[in-house]
Amino acid sequence: MGKRLVVVGSQWGDEGKGKITDYLAEKADVVVRSQGGNNAGHTIKFNNRKFALHLIPSGIFNPKIINIMGNGMVINPFALLEELEMLKNEGIKDYNLYISNRAHIVLPHHIELDALYETIKGADAVGTTKKGIGPAYMDKVSRVGVRISDLINPESLRKRLKINVDSARVILEANNQTIENFEDLYNNLIEIGQIIKPYITDTSVLLNNLIEDGKNILFEGAQGSMLCVDHGTYPYVTSSSPTAAAVPLNSGISPYLITDVIGVTKAYTTRVGAGVFPTEFEDEIAKTIRKIGNEYGTTTRRPRRIGWLDLVVLKHVKRINGLNNLAIMLLDVLTGIEELKVCVSYNLDGKEIDYIPADYFEYERCKPNYISLPGWNEDITKISSFDELPKNCKNYLKTIEDILKTKVTIVSVGPDRKQTVTLKNIF
Ligand code: IMP
Repeated sequence: MGKRLVVVGSQWGDEGKGKITDYLAEKADVVVRSQGGNNAGHTIKFNNRKFALHLIPSGIFNPKIINIMGNGMVINPFALLEELEMLKNEGIKDYNLYISNRAHIVLPHHIELDALYETIKGADAVGTTKKGIGPAYMDKVSRVGVRISDLINPESLRKRLKINVDSARVILEANNQTIENFEDLYNNLIEIGQIIKPYITDTSVLLNNLIEDGKNILFEGAQGSMLCVDHGTYPYVTSSSPTAAAVPLNSGISPYLITDVIGVTKAYTTRVGAGVFPTEFEDEIAKTIRKIGNEYGTTTRRPRRIGWLDLVVLKHVKRINGLNNLAIMLLDVLTGIEELKVCVSYNLDGKEIDYIPADYFEYERCKPNYISLPGWNEDITKISSFDELPKNCKNYLKTIEDILKTKVTIVSVGPDRKQTVTLKNIF
């Protein structure tokens, strides 16, 4: 019987899920993306080539892998077309891709609305990626969304698109903004529908059949659990749930089919966009981490905010996801830092707590309580086994394991596929 492994971002996104997915995908038969849209950005490096994917699953470079874009995604058809073009231009032609007919689409006016809602929030803006993700999910839940299946049914598209555009028009025109010409948009979508038609299917049926056939399935997370609309730092979150719990709903399988959950975390913490971040610091060390770790958003190129590793965050994320494995990423970036701080609890108004307060203002008042661990100077970028790691580096990993009571099963010591140490094979 195959395994069904969920790769979960365990911080505020950008943990290196793309690399881990790509690495684990070598032994997977199927890679599934189930939520979010092109707000995500996964960088994959191999054979001295670098690819940035935003929508298409990371298994796309392996012709043996079946790649599925699930029903819980919001897909911008124009961005999808661009990504397919990019693959073609890079000579990547031999791949298996399936797109759920139930996934919703992101339209140009969703991007306008995203920007508009951010402006209305003023100083309290979320700092979204401005890809229209929130408004597309709003339309889905308001039952005025347009789905992938509509793109290949002209009658249905006309009907659904009209309702959608009319709803958006009310808000945009009230704010002195115009909406794109309906017929132009409709025709463009029909054209894209014909291009992507071969990939469109009922992916729930496909996935359940693949599971029955005993295939190894990898669910690729987008964003991080702290950006979860339910369990994250609301309202500074995304509009979907990047947790393992959301995977069954967003891909059309039963919850009992998930066998493993791996939490991907950086050896430190980063965040893009606004919102509470207790372990954030900005000094020469943060600047070095940003430079060495290339901490700039894949989608927006914004400099990422830098912080020490926060085990209160990881405990919360472990609980809501049921993590049974950890992948520690970018460990090499910490090389040369004399003293490494790790947050083990918070001080909230004089009281020590080890949970994330639901009240945003309470969370903002939390001050991190740190333990200090000695750093290492040895270059670890070329090591290939756990035993070769410097003593202090092993101690850093052991401390994380002990406090979280979760096994570290993968350690990443550089951006390349080869710079990965596996302590236990999941597949
Ligand atoms: P949205 O998903 O564009 O609505 O943005 C909401 C919040 O999630 C913002 O703080 C974004 O910076 C953040 N976000 C969305 N996608 C990602 C991601 O893939 N990595 C990191 N942050 C993300």
